[in-house]
Amino acid sequence: MLDLKKIRRDTPGLKTGRAYLHNAGAALMPKPVIDTIKRHIDLEAKIGGYAAAAREADRHRRAYASIARLLNAKPEEIAITENATVAWQMAFYSLTFKPGDRILTAEAEYGANYVAFLQMAKRTGAVIDVVPSTATGELDVAALERMIDRKARLIAITWVPTNGGLTNPAAAIGRVARRHGITYLLDACQAVGQMEVNVRKLGCDMLSATGRKFLRGPRGTGFLYVRRDLLRSLDPPMIDHFAAPWVARDRYELRDDARRFENWENNYAGHFGLGAAVDYALAIGIGNIEKRSRMLANRLRAGLHKIKGATVRDLGRNPSAIVSFTIDGQDSTEIVKKADRAGITIGASDPESTLIDAQKRGLPMLVRASPHYYNTEAEVDRLIDFCATMK
Ligand SMILES: Cc1ncc(COP(=O)(O)O)c(C=O)c1O
Repeated sequence: MLDLKKIRRDTPGLKTGRAYLHNAGAALMPKPVIDTIKRHIDLEAKIGGYAAAAREADRHRRAYASIARLLNAKPEEIAITENATVAWQMAFYSLTFKPGDRILTAEAEYGANYVAFLQMAKRTGAVIDVVPSTATGELDVAALERMIDRKARLIAITWVPTNGGLTNPAAAIGRVARRHGITYLLDACQAVGQMEVNVRKLGCDMLSATGRKFLRGPRGTGFLYVRRDLLRSLDPPMIDHFAAPWVARDRYELRDDARRFENWENNYAGHFGLGAAVDYALAIGIGNIEKRSRMLANRLRAGLHKIKGATVRDLGRNPSAIVSFTIDGQDSTEIVKKADRAGITIGASDPESTLIDAQKRGLPMLVRASPHYYNTEAEVDRLIDFCATMK
């Protein structure tokens, strides 16, 4: 059981009285995260950035250890990046493709990832193959297995797509990848912080995520996990002399940990805030977080189902805490603006973010509401009541 009173006391953003239901965009940071960031900025202001980083070297080390604990990985398998996109790009662009090599992905793949596939296809002659979905919307694992041949080079999928509650069967996909020895890159951006993310159970080789969403960390932070045995064979697309110390006039040596995907300059306050966010989530318990955020999301779906003209657009048998919907005759961006004026913070998801899925289902711009464990039932009900007034 989580201590909701304490958790809400810890969250200054809730004191405004707004119903904050935009956690798939950027969640509200809890006080320990905010204080950690502010403390480090103050220290930098007092003694300078370099001295502050040196004094807090152990805190930096602990941030990697915390992320590793969250993922059931080892600290040397973690790189901290500016965001999830950079983490994903560093992993993806480290891979080499030959003409005809196949990239297997899902229908609801994230736009940033898909345009990178297109660029790689243009550059190398690699081929993108979209694995079909089951009737309920998840990637069809049996179809994936049937699509695998000697040319299958990479399985790259988004676990929880940006445009709704779908949760792809990431661990079952991992079992296929392992069985066939195919590299598996998992975009866990919307999963981290709202559900258990255990890289050993998932069977992924690489996993990317962000700090600011369900993890409740600061903006401008993300991280990459790369499996130890794979690390040494990956040549980062760009390096500096931190990633690869310059050891002789004609030679550099790549670091042998995941920090070969980083570079020298860092937002230390952000890294420490990210570490604090992970510690905060672990202290509450990921199982507790998942249970409550899903319960609230399901409450919202149930409420929306009762509203005439409202259509829940989520796919999947066991949807996550991202709720997407439309209301007949109403422009989704207008709904978001009106909700804002009514003291409710939600977001929208545009078709271009998940173009294949959006085209297949003829989706317009969607309203996206994403409760988290710190929300109350009353806040969710406020959104339901607000939607009921939208005719
Ligand atoms: C599924 C998914 N992947 C990746 C990203 C990109 O994350 P970031 O903005 O931290 O780069 C997002 C952001 O919305 C996302 O929803």
